Amino acid sequence: MSFPNWFAAELFSALELRSGDEARPEILEALHRLNRAYLSETPAAAGWEQKGTHTAYALFYMTQNMPKLGFVLDRAPPSTGLTSAADLGCGPGTLLWALALREAAAGRPVPKLHGVDNDPKMLEIAARIWARLRRSLQLPEDHLTLEQGDWRQRLDLPVDTLMLGNTLVEAGIPDADLLSALKCRELLLIEPGTSRHFRRLLELRGHLLGSGWNLGFPCPTAGTCPMSASGDWCHFRINRLGLPHMQRMAALAGRQDPASAFCGFLFRRGASELPSGAWRLLSAPRRVSRSVVRLVCDGRKVDELVLNRKGKAAGNEDFQQAPAGSLGLLSPAPESAFKRKRLDENQSFRSLFPPISVNLTPTDLAD
Ligand SMILES: C[S@@+](CC[C@H](N)C(=O)[O-])C[C@H]1O[C@@H](n2cnc3c(N)ncnc32)[C@H](O)[C@@H]1O
Repeated sequence: MSFPNWFAAELFSALELRSGDEARPEILEALHRLNRAYLSETPAAAGWEQKGTHTAYALFYMTQNMPKLGFVLDRAPPSTGLTSAADLGCGPGTLLWALALREAAAGRPVPKLHGVDNDPKMLEIAARIWARLRRSLQLPEDHLTLEQGDWRQRLDLPVDTLMLGNTLVEAGIPDADLLSALKCRELLLIEPGTSRHFRRLLELRGHLLGSGWNLGFPCPTAGTCPMSASGDWCHFRINRLGLPHMQRMAALAGRQDPASAFCGFLFRRGASELPSGAWRLLSAPRRVSRSVVRLVCDGRKVDELVLNRKGKAAGNEDFQQAPAGSLGLLSPAPESAFKRKRLDENQSFRSLFPPISVNLTPTDLAD
């Protein structure tokens, strides 16, 4: 996801900041505290009552997390006819804004939005961001409802899409009874990209697959995850420094690594829409000498596929170039089990659901 060029200015204005304020001591201190709390997996230690903490979250973590929604939705069968979405534990509105910008950029109607959080300060910030964003997206004020409350009581919201971003991390996994309350058609879960969070999500995946749900992302089939019994875990990375103020904050905080790892799952009700025999490219292309090596998963096994220089052909260009997380069809299909299987020039790899570009131009804006 690339942010529209007006986004940072509107965010700063909503937060009543001027350019350069992101380097204020209380904001950088809050960033350090949040970072320490998330690394030690004790979010309560973030010191939310201290000045600048909510602002630092909105400036840095919200904008860091927004592209994760597009990453997942771009690599799943397109959603159709969705008219409402809710974000549980929405914070400053992270996934609501990411969804609204994505749909608007694609020229589709933005679903009615509903955010739930138990922190009034987060909701106050979300309301201020909405006031700016809705003007830019030409949406009526009542297109968004913000509600203060416990998200565990709102799993039954009658919306098409229910989204939880980095919310389970603070609350533990809802048990099967809570999940049976779900009324949505699709459920998007984004969590930090660690082994611990992945294993918690796998547990939840088991409950959902056992009760009439299927997967749009990441698993190509709903079998036993091949990583459930390994030390590895399924996670992806986005560039978390997509805006100049984030780059400045990261530089000042000595955190210049642009990658943010996350685990993402998209569940949908009913039969799977994924074609059989599809493979998910779990890693970016790794070039070794003149070969290209990628970790792939078909939902039953994870393996490395190797394309050496002699096998490169127009038909396997997607294998060489498609972004990590892409789903594709390999033809002819490989034998059922392989270890470091080699692709050859007669094997094509065709990506499914190529990502859409998410960039609104200023001409899309209202005055
Ligand atoms: C890590 S933040 C995630 C915010 C946002 N979803 C994102 O991905 O950037 C977790 C959010 O969950 C909220 N929260 C924690 N426990 C909650 C609960 N039981 N009910 C509602 N909100 C909760 C916090 O106030 C916070 O805004």
